[in-house]
Amino acid sequence: MHILAVAGSLRAASINAAFCRAASRLAPADAPIAVYDRLGELPLFNPDREGDAPESARHWRRSVGAADALLIASPEYAHGVSGVMKNALDWLVGEQSFVGKPVAVVNTSPRAHHAHDALLEILRTMSADVVEGASSSVALLGVCTGEAEMLASEPVRDRIRQVVAGLRGHLLDPRASGPRMGL
Ligand SMILES: Cc1cc2nc3c(=O)[nH]c(=O)nc-3n(C[C@H](O)[C@H](O)[C@H](O)COP(=O)(O)O)c2cc1C
Repeated sequence: MHILAVAGSLRAASINAAFCRAASRLAPADAPIAVYDRLGELPLFNPDREGDAPESARHWRRSVGAADALLIASPEYAHGVSGVMKNALDWLVGEQSFVGKPVAVVNTSPRAHHAHDALLEILRTMSADVVEGASSSVALLGVCTGEAEMLASEPVRDRIRQVVAGLRGHLLDPRASGPRMGL
């Protein structure tokens, strides 16, 4: 079992990227989490280049294809999904390996819900297997400034472990963690 965590922010002090790193540190040995930190290398998606995608896009597609599940944490910008995340997902639209891919989406800023809701809608439209039991809020914005504070806080550690356990549980038994969402 191999989970890929990805943040939709390129900011050096990104809370979402810090969440991904913290989740990686807290992952159990039988469900390791690797962090994908190369979304900034992707060019803007252009359907004309789908068949002859640049190496950065092929690397992204290969990495997603090799993962058993994705763990996404992405910010809200002007009530929308960050361009970084939307662009990365657009590069996956034609990917057969993404169909049915278990994906958990974490909202690190519970005051923001537009982007979270939109991201779930996008993923369902792409026929991902949105893992509802692991897709929720982990209140980190304004609570922790980075990975070290997340790892130092017992309640935050517990919350992150719950999310990872929800995703792991779904991978072990998809029926146990609720019905699969369709379009
Ligand atoms: C351009 C921009 C637009 C934003 N728009 C919203 C918004 O609409 N709603 C909201 O709750 N937060 C908004 N924020 C705050 C970000 O969601 C928040 O700072 C978040 O932590 C950024 O994620 P990061 O720490 O992973 O970079 C915005 C931030 C920026 C930079």
